[in-house]
Amino acid sequence: MKFLVSFIFLALIACDSRKQQQTNESSELTALVLEEGDRISTQAQMALGGQLKQAITAGGPSHAVQFCNLSAGHILDTLYSGYEHVKIKRTTEKFRNQANAPSETERDLLQEYQQKLQDNLVLTPAVTHIGETALLYSKPIIVNNPLCLNCHGSIEQNIGKETYNIISQYYPKDLAVNYQMGDLRGMWSIEFDREELLKLID
Ligand code: HEC
Repeated sequence: MKFLVSFIFLALIACDSRKQQQTNESSELTALVLEEGDRISTQAQMALGGQLKQAITAGGPSHAVQFCNLSAGHILDTLYSGYEHVKIKRTTEKFRNQANAPSETERDLLQEYQQKLQDNLVLTPAVTHIGETALLYSKPIIVNNPLCLNCHGSIEQNIGKETYNIISQYYPKDLAVNYQMGDLRGMWSIEFDREELLKLID
């Protein structure tokens, strides 16, 4: 009897410590994804924003549309080519480029952000588990610069005729217009491979 009791007791401790280990691992992974996601999205945003301003200065918004078309995806691809197993994307329900359409998980997150914005809550980056194999970092993108309206604002009021012609030429099914300052434009979505992350915290 005594043996059985101590056995159960030991088993309970063992289970508990394994659970504790998993919780620790999970919170370590979440912290790492938040840190890396912030770093990567900030860097990507600066790279895109810097190049966008340069392109607008060089040839106005209509020229910059072509720059975005040719370069946005490419900049994001090359930015982290040195960083294996990270997929970096900007996504939104009202997309300009079909390639930026959201997955089901991303759509849920976008809708949560939209709801929070409507409820006047603070929008913060989040970490979502995708099955057992990946973790997704998301960070809202707000229209926080009047510059954005040149290409994503009202067709009548903000987007120049020439610019809109070029946008329609490149993106005949464009949905990314009629935004106002303060609107949710979309989110950064950065997917990390779980195994690769585990290597980093070991
Ligand atoms: C010169 C025109 C122009 C300006 C200014 C501009 N964008 Fe865009 N934006 C584009 C184009 C073109 C695309 C599609 C890029 C591609 O093909 O991947 C795009 C795509 C995006 C996307 C990806 C989702 C989608 O709709 O395909 C986001 C998010 C975005 N822009 C946010 C912004 C924000 C925020 C600003 C202001 C800081 C901004 N843009 C300013 C032209 C512009």
